[in-house]
Amino acid sequence: MSSNSSPSHEWWRTAVIYQVYPRSFADSSGNGIGDLPGVTSRLDHLAALGVDAVWLSPFYRSPQNDAGYDVSDYCDVDPMFGTLADADALIARAHHLGLRVIFDIVPNHSSSEHVWFQEALAAGPGSPERDHYIFREGRGPNGAEPPNNWQSTFGGPAWTRITEADGTPGPWYLHLFDTTQPDFDWTNPWVADRFDEVLRFWLDRGIDGFRIDVAHGLAKSPGLPDVDTDPMLIGGGWTTEEHPYWSRDDVHAIWRRWRHVTEEYDGDRALVAEAWVLPLSKMAQWVRDDELHQAFNFGYLMTPWDAKDMRAVIDDSLESFGTVGAPSTWVLSNHDTIRHTTRLSTKAPLAHNIGIGPQSLDRPDEAHSIARGRAATLLMLALPGSAYVYQGEELGLPEAIDIPDDARQDPTFFHTPAGVYGRDGCRVPLPWESDAPAYGFSPTGASWLPQPASWARYAADSQRGVAGSTLEMYREALKLRRERSLAHGTLGWNESDSDVLDFTVSGVRVVSNMSDDPVALPSGDRLLASGPVGESLPPDTTVWLAI
Ligand code: GLC
Repeated sequence: MSSNSSPSHEWWRTAVIYQVYPRSFADSSGNGIGDLPGVTSRLDHLAALGVDAVWLSPFYRSPQNDAGYDVSDYCDVDPMFGTLADADALIARAHHLGLRVIFDIVPNHSSSEHVWFQEALAAGPGSPERDHYIFREGRGPNGAEPPNNWQSTFGGPAWTRITEADGTPGPWYLHLFDTTQPDFDWTNPWVADRFDEVLRFWLDRGIDGFRIDVAHGLAKSPGLPDVDTDPMLIGGGWTTEEHPYWSRDDVHAIWRRWRHVTEEYDGDRALVAEAWVLPLSKMAQWVRDDELHQAFNFGYLMTPWDAKDMRAVIDDSLESFGTVGAPSTWVLSNHDTIRHTTRLSTKAPLAHNIGIGPQSLDRPDEAHSIARGRAATLLMLALPGSAYVYQGEELGLPEAIDIPDDARQDPTFFHTPAGVYGRDGCRVPLPWESDAPAYGFSPTGASWLPQPASWARYAADSQRGVAGSTLEMYREALKLRRERSLAHGTLGWNESDSDVLDFTVSGVRVVSNMSDDPVALPSGDRLLASGPVGESLPPDTTVWLAI
């Protein structure tokens, strides 16, 4: 393969994996929505950045009610994003550049427009087709109440009632997310068989793995009992207690099965869990050595900019994942969360899809939050294990806060109380060129979400080759990370003030000042810093020193 990717076994243990959100990466057609040829045309940027792999959020056929996480055909590309030939070209170009390729897969639910769900509706009560999804009779007189009290992650009941072909009110179907995202019944072997086929379809095309959507949600408690308490955070599902649909033990059999499928293939294919599970010692069950290869470390993502909390979550991560022989991962941003540049400077709740918008009281100062965001990045990229970078964070993008209500797209915004803005602010199309239409995102200047007027300064071409720019900081950090084998190292803490993180890994001393005051700088040759550093280390700054 590549200069970038290690040819060695288990590349994913130390990889930096870059998330492409295809709608917002690069638009080649000019319709204002990013597409696969757009991604392919910009892969050089990722190779130059120095990442090892690229993960693409869904681009499959979809009515786009949840930005593509509502899939109506798992084995085809939505015309909005291109064709299967475009997917093949993307894979080939990425491999040529030495980048591995991971695609998203959404097994908890399909779109209600998927032919399997349409067949289930048409086949009628008692049919085998109905059993591919979770249909139940309602409660109360005439079954007019939902079968239980479960709530959709996007707000409102998790059940929608259907009308049968003859016009009579029918049963209800379960959807843990949007009404147009019916949950599969994973107790039905038919469902597992279909997904084996989907996995093989893409593995046969040469991809290097999958990111598994809602990997904590597929197994439901038999009998579908009410939820006693309400442990759900909006969009989440964190709970340490047994829950009727999140993080149930039965889900692990599915991941063992998927592991077997990937092991039929050569080339070290990897499976990554999106599993919102706490504590991390429980999340680690998803990456036992016969299950998935790694899991997003959402415990880390949710940790505020606080030295004590950060140190605790780093220790917990290394311990929890290490105990099962898996690498820890590290992630600060993705398409569901407030961009870390902004988030780490807010006091806002950290629940992952609440968002921030024009009426939010807690609007951080941009210059200050950028400094902190960069410091957080340098801390993360020094940690041993595998790291995820979300598109645009290498440009230092803040959250887009002032998106008008009538331009918003996320279903969360429409189904939840005022003040919950949802996830549009982290999904705004990327700025590539400072003075091109739509900042080079689209040749026509169209953009499915409005780009802030201030984004010219974040454009890739404003930063490329500019010493001290966020883009150059990422590039330098990834280069040093590789050269110095930071990801392979063992972390040892150094004594420090309680508001400072100070550790050594692979001969590099990493110091992050999370206090409000400058602190003394340890000795060592300065390799890289997230901001200006003089005699002392200013607040909200991380430095890497060779020792
Ligand atoms: C995951 C995705 C999110 C999506 C949800 C439902 O959490 O990351 O974007 O809305 O699953 O598929």
